[in-house]
Amino acid sequence: MNDQSGIDAETRRGLHVAFIMDGNGRWAKARKRPRPFGHQAGAKRTREVVEACPDLGVKYVTLYAFSTENWKRSRKEITALMALFRHTIRKTAHDLHAEGARVRFIGDRGPLDRKLLNLMEELEGLTRNNDRVHVTVALNYGGRDEILRATRKMADAVKAGAIQPADIGEDTMKQYLDTGDIPDPDLVIRTSGESRTSNFLVWQSAYAEYEFTDTLWPDFGREQFATVLDKFGLRERRYGGV
Ligand code: IPE
Ligand code: IPE
Ligand code: MG
Repeated sequence: MNDQSGIDAETRRGLHVAFIMDGNGRWAKARKRPRPFGHQAGAKRTREVVEACPDLGVKYVTLYAFSTENWKRSRKEITALMALFRHTIRKTAHDLHAEGARVRFIGDRGPLDRKLLNLMEELEGLTRNNDRVHVTVALNYGGRDEILRATRKMADAVKAGAIQPADIGEDTMKQYLDTGDIPDPDLVIRTSGESRTSNFLVWQSAYAEYEFTDTLWPDFGREQFATVLDKFGLRERRYGGV
């Protein structure tokens, strides 16, 4: 019999780690290669990090892939990033499903092209009943934009008489955000030496721990992931269970 009395409900629902995957451009520049070369190398690391989650006791992993501010980049870089997203979904969908990953996308889907949207929707549908690891990809995501979209939806609901202003509480807000049924992150890790959060999970990270590491994203891997979890005492102790 496992004595789980020492584990509180928060721990039992599974650890949530969110990544601000930064530094791809600088990694490429250091190699005198174009920025998309860094994004491709970064995508491989993202795959490695997701694969490592179940072993490390991480049940939820959220990945900042493209921000609402990233449209300010050159057309060339944006096109390369969108092609990389499509390619990565096509290439990894089968394995993610086989690994028991449930994939969700958060962010404003409005400006994304149909080809990419179809792949996103297919992957969400394919993996919807999986529960081994929950992978959330933030694509055209901004924390302020998410709060604004939620606010508009709540205003519409008030107007329709579905909710009363006085009933709007933190739980209501949570439901209207893109992250609805996903628990708040316990830990946010940003690579590349920048100590800012760049509009990531603004509402959800109010109580998260933060780790800022100088490592560039394409150099971040399974081992460093484990080391950071240990630093915060977050690596899951399985208490003999699964
Ligand atoms: C993060 O790496 C990836 C995205 C924002 C899409 P960057 O492209 O921001 O890399 P740096 O910060 O220029 O090195
Ligand atoms: C944050 O990185 C966004 C993503 C990792 C997708 P940026 O490189 O875009 O952020 P800033 O510009 O340094 O704040
Ligand atoms: Mg950057």
